[in-house]
Amino acid sequence: MKLFRISFLFIFLIFEFAINAQTSNKIALVKGWKFTTENDAGFASPDFNDVRWQNIAVDKPWEKQGIKHDGFAWYRIRVIIPSSLKDNAELKDSVIFNMGKIDDFDQTFLNGSLIGVNLSNVPANTEPDTNYKNLDYSYWNNNRRYSLSVNDPRIKWDAENVIAVRVYDWNGLGGIFSGDLYIGMPDLSDYFHLENNVSNYIIKNNTVSKTIKLRNSSHNYELKGKLSVVAKNKLNQKHVLDKVFKFDLNGKEEIKIDILIPRQDQSSVVNFTASIIGSNLFINRHDETPYILTPPVAETPKLNGAPVYGERPGKPFLYRMAATGKRPMKYSAKGLPDGLEIDGKTGIITGAVESAGTYKVALTAENSLGKDEKTLTVKIGAALALTPPMGWNSWNVWGLEVDHNKVYAAAEAFVNTGLADHGWTFINIDDGWEIFGKSDSPKRTAEGKMLTNEKFPDMKSLGDKIHSLGLKFGIYSSPGDLTCGGYAGSLNHEEDDAESFSEWGIDYLKYDLCGYRNIMKDQNDPAELKPPYIKMHKALLKQNRDIVYSICEYGNGKVWEWGEEVGGNLWRTTGDIWDEWERLKQIGFSQVENAKYNGPGHWNDPDMLVVGWVGWSSNLHPSRLTPDEQYTHITLWSLLSAPLLIGCDLTKLDNFTLNLLTNDEVIAIDQDPLGKQATPVLTDGDIQVWKKELSDGSYAIGIFNLGNNTKNFTLYLENIGLPDSIKARNIWKQKDIGFIYKGKDFRIPSHGTLMLKLSE
Ligand code: GAL
Repeated sequence: MKLFRISFLFIFLIFEFAINAQTSNKIALVKGWKFTTENDAGFASPDFNDVRWQNIAVDKPWEKQGIKHDGFAWYRIRVIIPSSLKDNAELKDSVIFNMGKIDDFDQTFLNGSLIGVNLSNVPANTEPDTNYKNLDYSYWNNNRRYSLSVNDPRIKWDAENVIAVRVYDWNGLGGIFSGDLYIGMPDLSDYFHLENNVSNYIIKNNTVSKTIKLRNSSHNYELKGKLSVVAKNKLNQKHVLDKVFKFDLNGKEEIKIDILIPRQDQSSVVNFTASIIGSNLFINRHDETPYILTPPVAETPKLNGAPVYGERPGKPFLYRMAATGKRPMKYSAKGLPDGLEIDGKTGIITGAVESAGTYKVALTAENSLGKDEKTLTVKIGAALALTPPMGWNSWNVWGLEVDHNKVYAAAEAFVNTGLADHGWTFINIDDGWEIFGKSDSPKRTAEGKMLTNEKFPDMKSLGDKIHSLGLKFGIYSSPGDLTCGGYAGSLNHEEDDAESFSEWGIDYLKYDLCGYRNIMKDQNDPAELKPPYIKMHKALLKQNRDIVYSICEYGNGKVWEWGEEVGGNLWRTTGDIWDEWERLKQIGFSQVENAKYNGPGHWNDPDMLVVGWVGWSSNLHPSRLTPDEQYTHITLWSLLSAPLLIGCDLTKLDNFTLNLLTNDEVIAIDQDPLGKQATPVLTDGDIQVWKKELSDGSYAIGIFNLGNNTKNFTLYLENIGLPDSIKARNIWKQKDIGFIYKGKDFRIPSHGTLMLKLSE
C-alpha cells in the first residue's frame, strides 16, 4: 500500500511537472484579440490605440461572428513575452509565433515590424508589400507559423509586445479561423518535416510506390531518429508492409525515401511515424494507396461520348468524335444534316446547320482491328448542353497564375492522354486573363473592348488552336466591375465583352457574381440577382456563336429555381470546393433540394473536380482526397448529372487519376440523356444510397460509406424501391455481378463507394 502511495505521488509529480513545463514553454494567444475591417499601415504600430476596436475570436471566421466583410481587416493582440520562456526551454535559439489558419492572406507584424507573410518568415526591416497583386489566396487553409531568433530585435523580452495581423479575404469566409495560436519555444520535432504529399503513389506492376521527404529546417541541430512505415490492407487489416528507416539529418538537410508497397485491389492505409532522439514527441502522418478498378482501354475501336448533341441553327458547329482504340482510326458519319462535314482522319465534324430539327447520325470508327458504330442524335434547336458539360478549368490548378501555355498544354493533354477520346471537350480559362483592377494600365481599348493581360497575348489564336484539336474554348468574367481575383469585370460592357468572346471563338462563359455584390443590397434576393445574368445572356444570344452559359453565384437566392429562366445552362449550387473530405462531403451530399431542377440544357453545378495535382497557384500538390474519396467524388458527381470539369495539371496525370476519369460506363451515367439527378433513397448510419433513373429504364445507384470505418451493408432492393429480382453490374469494374434476389451483402471502405447499374 505504502509503495503504491509513493509511486502514485511520484507519477503525480511527473505529471504536474510535464504540465508546467508545457505551459511555461508556450503563451496561448487565444483571448484578447481586437479587430477592425478598416485598413491602415499605422495599425501595425505598437503605439496605435485599438481600444475602440471590437473584440474577436480566432477560432472561427469573422462571418461566423456576424461580420459580413470581404477585403482587408486587421487583428491585434498585446502580450508579455517573459524571458522565463527561453530560460526554461531546452532549445533556446528561436521563438515560434504560431498564428493558426488565416483566410486568405496575411502579413504578420510584431511591434510594428513585419515577421511573416503567407507561411514565410521575413528578415528584419522588410517593408510590407503593398502591391496588392501579390495578395495570394492559396494559403488560406494552412497554419501560419513564423519563427524569430531569440536575439531578434523585433521581440521585446519581459515587456508588452503587440502582434498585428493584416488579413486580406478575397471572398467567402475570412480571417484567422482555426488552429492553436501561441508563442512558444521549439521542440526538436518542430524542425523535422515529414512530407508525404510531395508526390503521389504510382501503380506499377505489383507495387504502389511514392517518394516522401524528410527535411530538417534548423540550421544547427542534427536530427537523428527512426521512421516506421506500416501499411495495412484497408478492408481486411492485414499488414502488407512493416519497415523502419533510420535517418540522420544535418542542419538544412533533406532526404528522399522511396516507399514501395505491394499492390492490392483496394487501398492500403499507410501510417508513417517518426521519432527523434531528444524529443518525446512522435510525428505521425498517414495516407492511402490508390487502386485501379477500370479495365484497360481496348485496342479495338469503341465510340464513346454522349448519345445526343445540340447546337443552334446557323451557328458554327464543332463536334469531335470520341473513340478509343489503336491508331490510325478512320471515322465516318452517315446522315449528317446539310451544312456539316466530317474529317475522316480526325473525326472532327464542322460546319453549320440552318434548319432546326432532330437528325440521327450513324457514326463509325474503324481501325485495323475492327469497327464500332453508334447513333448520335443531333438536335438543332434552342437548347445547348443537352448533357452536362465535360472539360477542364484552370482554377483549381493554376488559380490566378494561369497563362496561355498552361491552357494550351491542357488542350494538348486532352488529346495526348486520350481524355478527349472519352468525351472530355471544354478547355476553360477561369479568372486571371483580364487586366488587374488596381493596375495603372487601361482595362479596355478606347472603343470599350476588354484587353487581356500579358499572360494571354492572343486570345483568338489560342481559341483557333484549341478548336483545331476539335475541342471547345471557355472563358470567365463577372457582372461586377471586378472579378473575385480583382481583375476587370464586364460591368456596363456586357455587349462589348460578348462580342469579344465571340471574336475569340469562345464556346463557354462562366459568369461569376463577385464584384457585383458590392452594388447589391441583398445578395440573396433573386430580384437583384437575375438582372445582371439576364443582361449577359441577351448579349450572348446576339452573337454568331453558341456560348454555353455557366452561372456562378454560389447558390445564392436558390439559383436552381430561376437559373434556367435567366438563360443559364448550368449554375453553381455552392461555394468553392477544395480537396478535403469534409468539404467534398458537405457539398456533394447536400445536393438534394435542387434535384428536380436538373435536366437537359440546365444543370446544377456542385463545383469542379479536385482530383490529380491541384493548388490554386503554381504551388501544386496531389489531391488530398484519398483514392476512396476520389472514387466517391466521381461516382457522386456522375450520379448527380453534374458538369464534370477537371481542375488539375493534366501534364502530371498519374495512372490512377487517368483511370478515374476515363471509365466510359461511369461517364455514361453522368451523360445519360434523361438528365435526372440522383437522390438519396436510403440512409443507414454512415451508409447512404443514392439512386438515379436512366434513359434506358434502368437505375444507377451509389452506396456510400461516409464513416471512418469499413462497413458491411446489406442492400435490400425493396428498401430502395426496386423489384425483388434485378440484374446488377459493377460500373467501376465494368463487370456483371449477376442477379440480386431480394438483397445482397456488400463491404464498403470508409469514405468509399460501390456504384451499380441495376436493370430488370
Ligand atoms: C470564385 C469562384 C471560383 C473561381 C474564382 C476566381 O468566386 O467560385 O470558382 O472562379 O472565383 O476568382
